Amino acid sequence: MRLLSNLLVAVLLFVGAAIALPGGSAGSVLGGSTAQAAEGAGRTPEPHPAHGKGDHCVMPTEFMRRNHMLMMYAHRKDVLVEGIRTTKFNISGCVNCHAVKGEDGQPVSFDNPKHFCRSCHTYAAVQIDCFECHNSKPQASEKSAALGVDSADAAKMAAFLRETKK
Ligand code: HEC
Ligand code: HEC
Ligand code: HEC
Repeated sequence: MRLLSNLLVAVLLFVGAAIALPGGSAGSVLGGSTAQAAEGAGRTPEPHPAHGKGDHCVMPTEFMRRNHMLMMYAHRKDVLVEGIRTTKFNISGCVNCHAVKGEDGQPVSFDNPKHFCRSCHTYAAVQIDCFECHNSKPQASEKSAALGVDSADAAKMAAFLRETKK
């Protein structure tokens, strides 16, 4: 099952990447039939997650709908195991673009049922623990997170600067 879904991701990724450039129609090409099937089958109303910031997600919407968890797991593995530091699928990016405002006009955190990442999960009975460690709200500065990420490089850079100042 795990192997199968990995294969599926590889294929979808390829298709996604190929049609991401022209934009627009990608969603309908990728997932039209499944989305329709799901709508027909559902007895409870479908969830309606808030629209993210900007025009599009980091991948075509339909692709993200189905594969966001796999993309985040793959990205986490890249970062933590392989040491490949990309940012496209950073969890802070998801949280920034998908912030939902509460009654006070401030972004809600994950304990609020309106939080983007709960909008479907409640419906789909999915539980995630990600926000026990990761921020569920946009942070004042994404730079600090990025700095934390590259702290080893930053330390090397600082040492180099001290060295050259002598
Ligand atoms: C026990 C704490 C903990 C939990 C729970 C956790 N993470 Fe992480 N996660 C970390 C740490 C620590 C890092 C490393 C941060 C770094 O070095 O960039 C990380 C890195 C990541 C990264 C790559 C870097 C980034 O900023 O995006 C992703 C993606 C990620 N986690 C996703 C998830 C998802 C999805 C879940 C829930 C299924 C989750 N994590 C649950 C601690 C946690
Ligand atoms: C640059 C802003 C941006 C970032 C970063 C971003 N998204 Fe999105 N996302 C959007 C927008 C805008 C949409 C809606 C696009 C549309 O209507 O077709 C969307 C759609 C989605 C959807 C489908 C929602 C639905 O209506 O069914 C999911 C799921 C999703 N994003 C998850 C994520 C995850 C997980 C991440 C982080 C890995 C992420 N997004 C990062 C902007 C972003
Ligand atoms: C468009 C609806 C939708 C949105 C919005 C959404 N998810 Fe999901 N998510 C799902 C569904 C449905 C599943 C279960 C898929 C399955 O089991 O195959 C899931 C599963 C997951 C899983 C795997 C859980 C597990 O135990 O296997 C993670 C991690 C996850 N989502 C993270 C997120 C994060 C983080 C966000 C917000 C950035 C988010 N999701 C937003 C629909 C959504």
